[in-house]
Amino acid sequence: MNAGTDRRPLGVALIGSTGSIGRQTVDVLGALPAAFRVVALAAGRNAAVLVEQAARLRPAAVAIAAESAAGLDLPPGTERVGGEAALETLVTRDDVDLVVVGTGGIVSLRPVLAALAAGKVVATANKETLVAGGHLVMPFARERAAAVAAARPGDPFASPLAWLRPIDSEHSAIWQCLVGEGTAGVEALILTASGGPFLDAPADLATVTPGQALRHPTWSMGAKITIDSATLANKGLEVIEAHWLYDVAYDAIEVVIHPQSVVHSAVRFVDGSLKAQLGTPDMRLPIQYALTYPERRPSPSSAVDLVAAGRLEFRAPDTDRFPALRIARAAGSIGQRATTALIAADEVAVERFLAGTLGFGDIPRVLEDAVARFGDGTDQAPDLESLVALDAEVRAEFASAPIGRGPA
Ligand SMILES: NC(=O)c1ccc[n+]([C@@H]2O[C@H](COP(=O)([O-])OP(=O)(O)OC[C@H]3O[C@@H](n4cnc5c(N)ncnc54)[C@H](OP(=O)(O)O)[C@@H]3O)[C@@H](O)[C@H]2O)c1
Repeated sequence: MNAGTDRRPLGVALIGSTGSIGRQTVDVLGALPAAFRVVALAAGRNAAVLVEQAARLRPAAVAIAAESAAGLDLPPGTERVGGEAALETLVTRDDVDLVVVGTGGIVSLRPVLAALAAGKVVATANKETLVAGGHLVMPFARERAAAVAAARPGDPFASPLAWLRPIDSEHSAIWQCLVGEGTAGVEALILTASGGPFLDAPADLATVTPGQALRHPTWSMGAKITIDSATLANKGLEVIEAHWLYDVAYDAIEVVIHPQSVVHSAVRFVDGSLKAQLGTPDMRLPIQYALTYPERRPSPSSAVDLVAAGRLEFRAPDTDRFPALRIARAAGSIGQRATTALIAADEVAVERFLAGTLGFGDIPRVLEDAVARFGDGTDQAPDLESLVALDAEVRAEFASAPIGRGPA
């Protein structure tokens, strides 16, 4: 692959270009035209934004999942790729060097595996790919890194994280703390969490509405991850994501509540030293780092003003009030059937909460039930097809089942 060393622009395929991460990635790419060329874009349903992005970026190919998006008004030179394997076709094109994943759920698991197998670099904001398929994805990244290490020890591409690059701000922070460090020196990873809109109130979370839960205190993100941040399920998924990305045991991954979202995460080393990465809550920074690694470039994100930030607070999470964090961590310790059941159930539960057919307090009940009923079994490292089938089975089960107390 073109690792950027020959200085021709890297070809980028952006999956989920119309979402929160996708649009911010378009902004970052647009500011670095000499370094990157957008080759392919893919969206779910938003034909209008996809067409506007295609007109602006002139990719060679686009795909849209919605069958209703019939005639796309694409610029000359942009072809539309269709069919079930459209995403795999886009990400494995010869002119693609780097794939950015901004989709939710496990829709991108298949294309991520195809991209890594084809020698592409993958930068992912999506955590479900690792939460469900970490055991399938990471071996590719480790194999690529080992091949580089054998030929060129010390090369920035001799790390699995050069091939599977995290965009999630916490995981980007840990990655940045680990650059130049050996894994033997790591004692623990410390993921920070804002605590979401209900950190201190109301006492009874059963009564909160989607409108309240969507008001995140520090980050502006898509609806699913915003609700996951309010239940702390998101932090639980991030613990599992960190376990796979950094090959660290679950009991060495800690979570700390940090309401200001300035310290994005930290690593504690065996000598007692703690390294943290600080930044303003702006996803364009971790997106850009994942694109330009191992280099840093000027970015539109402003640096943290420590004096203006003033006081930074930290406290332990309350898993009695926010049981989803405990449930997700337990699922991670069971294995990949449990984590797949967890994320499938969470997606349905969040959809139902937003639609007003499920109460906020019922979300963790759905997660616990899904892990107990679908997450057991001896095969805790299912192959891709079993994993996709389990995802569909769990979704179907919880799509309409009567659950708990219902909306307030
Ligand atoms: N937003 C953040 O700041 C943030 C931060 C950290 C991590 N993440 C993670 O990043 C992922 C995306 O989050 P988000 O907030 O950006 O979500 P989002 O705003 O809902 O965007 C999801 C994107 O995926 C597209 N999509 C859905 N189904 C598709 C399909 N079958 N084929 C191709 N594209 C498809 C959507 O297209 P349409 O819009 O056209 O339907 C949209 O572009 C999640 O895993 C989330 O946890 C997000």
